[in-house]
Amino acid sequence: MTILEVRDLQVWFDLPGGGEVHAVQRLNFALEAGQRLGLVGESGCGKSTAVLALMGLLPPTASVAGHVLLDGTDILAGGEETMRSHRWSDMAMVFQGTMSALNPVQTVGAQIIEPLRVHGLSAGPKARARGLELLDMVGLPGALAARYPHELSGGQRQRVCLAMALACRPRLLFADEPTTALDVMVQAQILQLLIDLTSQEGLALVLVTHDLAVVSQFCERIAIMYAGEIVENGPAEDLVDRPRHPYTRRLFAATLDLYGDESPQSIHGTPPRLDQPLSGCPFRPRCDRAFDPCQGERPALAVVGDRHVAACHRNRDTDSDAAAASSSGHRADDLRSAHPAQSSTPIVQPDANGHSCGSD
Ligand SMILES: Nc1ncnc2c1ncn2[C@@H]1O[C@H](COP(=O)(O)OP(=O)(O)OP(=O)(O)O)[C@@H](O)[C@H]1O
Ligand SMILES: [Mg+2]
Repeated sequence: MTILEVRDLQVWFDLPGGGEVHAVQRLNFALEAGQRLGLVGESGCGKSTAVLALMGLLPPTASVAGHVLLDGTDILAGGEETMRSHRWSDMAMVFQGTMSALNPVQTVGAQIIEPLRVHGLSAGPKARARGLELLDMVGLPGALAARYPHELSGGQRQRVCLAMALACRPRLLFADEPTTALDVMVQAQILQLLIDLTSQEGLALVLVTHDLAVVSQFCERIAIMYAGEIVENGPAEDLVDRPRHPYTRRLFAATLDLYGDESPQSIHGTPPRLDQPLSGCPFRPRCDRAFDPCQGERPALAVVGDRHVAACHRNRDTDSDAAAASSSGHRADDLRSAHPAQSSTPIVQPDANGHSCGSD
């Protein structure tokens, strides 16, 4: 069952001195109940902006266009009132940068149960009991409920934010770098909690992270973002073994190889500025496989494999692309062995826009 469908999402920010940043450009993907999607890409490619837009939490300087369908209803078209009625109850978010996400003058216990109060789901002793249950779920002692955010470590604050996001038992969770401040043992515990919630309770999850080992192991699908757009989206195993966009290959090649003897190869150059119009393929200046067509139209997502789409003109040139793909998935086994989690949830079939087109 499709919970979320994002069609042609676009976000622009007005800049104070004039001009605008086109932070998210024609973003397309779909998410099923119980599915875990990893959203990956270099800093500034629009990951946080995209999930904040889906939650309706961007500042007033942002303009948003496109369609965000929650259970088939376009909540973006419904405006702030519709968004608010679903926010925290049906869809929730763990923000990147936990200090700014928490109120410094309110105890963490009060903040965790705030969504329950706002949505009229519970109050008083019942809400406080739920608050303690949530702290326990994220591996924190109940005594922390009486503390203020500055009295907690970064990792503890990150777990408080996760507890807060889970308070109303949402069906959809956007987690923006939820484990970056956690040591590996706590990270494994939190990832296991998220696996349990997705596989047992049908929570649909979008995990934003820079950690390719985590997404390779933990997510059923991976979507790679570049310059505001998803440029590849496929089943995790297939995408790691046979990346079909040159940027994805370079991203994996740039990853530290803990067990092998290959040193990481950084991607030369920088991503394009999003405050200027883009022409052709935005990855072209950094791509070792660029050819003439890349200067023309920006490539659209096209089917490159089973439930796998990528936006690269080279994919029309199937033979040479297959050779490049098979020679670049060399870190796949290392990445998968780096984390213990493994998926069991069925994966759906996306069409050329990354939408689901076959599901249970
Ligand atoms: N409030 C804002 N006003 C203007 N530009 C913004 C604003 N927020 C983000 N941007 C710009 O939008 C683009 C995307 O930013 P975003 O924070 O979504 O990137 P990201 O992929 O989450 O990066 P990171 O991995 O560093 O968190 C960047 O160019 C950023 O400078
Ligand atoms: Mg971000």
